[in-house]
Amino acid sequence: MKPRVLVACEYSGRVRDEFAARGWDAWSCDFEESDTVGQHYRGDVRDLLKQHWDMLIAFPPCTYLCGSGMHWTTRGLRDPKLTEEALAFVHLLMNSTPPPYSNREPNRCYQHSYLQTHSDNPAISVR
Ligand SMILES: C[S@@+](CC[C@H](N)C(=O)[O-])C[C@H]1O[C@@H](n2cnc3c(N)ncnc32)[C@H](O)[C@@H]1O
Repeated sequence: MKPRVLVACEYSGRVRDEFAARGWDAWSCDFEESDTVGQHYRGDVRDLLKQHWDMLIAFPPCTYLCGSGMHWTTRGLRDPKLTEEALAFVHLLMNSTPPPYSNREPNRCYQHSYLQTHSDNPAISVR
């Protein structure tokens, strides 16, 4: 059976298609329609988290998380609740099984978390 990967918060299909080309049962998911033809769930990724996935890659929105925008919050010009909610979504993804890999977090904490969890798995390599 093919390993299953869910590429969450992706509408471009770029990562999904790379995995599909390498023999994975690869799905992307986003509120938006996929830009390219492929296996895509249009809707909330939370609908899919209870399914079995061998890998979860996520590109959650970074608008209220990235360092380049946090000055709006720290200067009191943006509701901190927006960041709390964005972080809660990230934590939801990270606490799903298996933990996600994402390249959207500026300080790369997702990668660290992912590598710590999967560094002994020869099927997975992250450059
Ligand atoms: C910055 S974009 C990432 C784009 C991605 N790198 C790509 O190549 O398509 C973040 C995406 O997360 C999606 N998104 C946010 N919350 C979501 C959710 N709960 N379920 C599914 N998609 C979600 C948004 O619709 C948006 O397209």
